[in-house]
Amino acid sequence: MKIDHIGYLVKKMDRAIKTFENLGYRIKQDKVRDEFRKIDICFVENDGYVIELISPYDKDSTVSGLIRKYGNCPYHICYCSDDIDRDIEKMREAGYLAWDAPLEAPACGNRRVCFLIHPDLGMIELLENRI
Ligand code: NI
Repeated sequence: MKIDHIGYLVKKMDRAIKTFENLGYRIKQDKVRDEFRKIDICFVENDGYVIELISPYDKDSTVSGLIRKYGNCPYHICYCSDDIDRDIEKMREAGYLAWDAPLEAPACGNRRVCFLIHPDLGMIELLENRI
């Protein structure tokens, strides 16, 4: 499956953006606040590699537990899907457990995303392609 981006947890979004810029990354999509997940998201890119910076702005965010445990770190690879419902079903059959139902992501043009866990890989994300 084609990779869309790598998700990267950061404790301080603005400082992380500056530090990635110093490594040669450019902002691909400015900061967006996802109020459902209580996170800020910013996409940066370097030579075709797209990193999604994710930072909680509230202690009840969907990633607060992860960031407390792991600190600043990459934590998922996101793959593009032409048919997210079909692919989730296929991945369930291949041993993945869906973390939640596919939900629209404001930071991704309201395309649906779904996180899945596999015992040999950890977490991945599926992102439906723009139609
Ligand atoms: Ni992602």
